[in-house]
Amino acid sequence: MSKGGDPTIHEHDPRWTDVDNYLLPHLQPPSPLQTNLHYVVTNAEKHDLPDIAVSALQGQFLALQCKLLNAKHVLEVGTLGGYSTIWLASTGEDVHVTSVEVDEMHAAVARESIANAGLADRVDVIVGPGLGVLPRLRAEVEQGKRPKFDFTFIDADKGNNWAYLDEAVGMSRSRAGVVVDNVVRRGRVADDGLAETDESIRGSRRVIEGAAGDERVDASVLQLVGEKNYDGVLVCCVK
Ligand code: SAH
Ligand code: DHB
Ligand code: MG
Repeated sequence: MSKGGDPTIHEHDPRWTDVDNYLLPHLQPPSPLQTNLHYVVTNAEKHDLPDIAVSALQGQFLALQCKLLNAKHVLEVGTLGGYSTIWLASTGEDVHVTSVEVDEMHAAVARESIANAGLADRVDVIVGPGLGVLPRLRAEVEQGKRPKFDFTFIDADKGNNWAYLDEAVGMSRSRAGVVVDNVVRRGRVADDGLAETDESIRGSRRVIEGAAGDERVDASVLQLVGEKNYDGVLVCCVK
């Protein structure tokens, strides 16, 4: 996460960057976790991974949500270099993260950074497409072979967001959290034309409207800005 991000992917406003730059030294002072997160960013850059990990403050917010939920079993779809994964796994010595990633190279980089952080025994990176892996995990939960999830972070291919949410809810405990990244996309979610033509906007609308109409969850959307983003998250509480 280079400061300022990639202008072809991210929207910028100097106020958002200034506020992040003000907040970060207070909220994320030097610590062993920060050292490990810095390694993840450097390792991702070294391997030319795209600069699309969550922001530092969003990672911290995901970790807070896990702590509020007392989450012990966390699911992630879309590992990339393991940046959000390490935030999630940082929330307790007894927390286990299962993270699904389709790209072998991303998974290899992530595993290296996760091992560097000393988290290899508490994080499983499963290589495969979410649409293949999640039903397998759900079957294992249904067979009692793995515990229900307490928190899920969905951050992979946006067109399949609804399918991922549907699977995640099906293997979550009551009062679990499910968060879907990138559902606002610089405001483009509100553009009716893009909703017809853009796969990721179609995916955002499908998951927002699906969650809104789903009896199994309560849901809301939070618009977010920061050093590299104007985007937002869908937040669901499983009933
Ligand atoms: N959660 C990460 C960023 C994930 S970027 C972080 O914040 O640090 C999205 C990731 O999803 C990429 O690594 C991409 O390879 C992966 N991805 C794309 N399609 C996928 C699929 N069908 N199944 C699983 N992962 C997928
Ligand atoms: C993209 C994907 C993300 O998960 C994200 O947080 C930002 C951008 C992208 O594919 O452009
Ligand atoms: Mg994302």
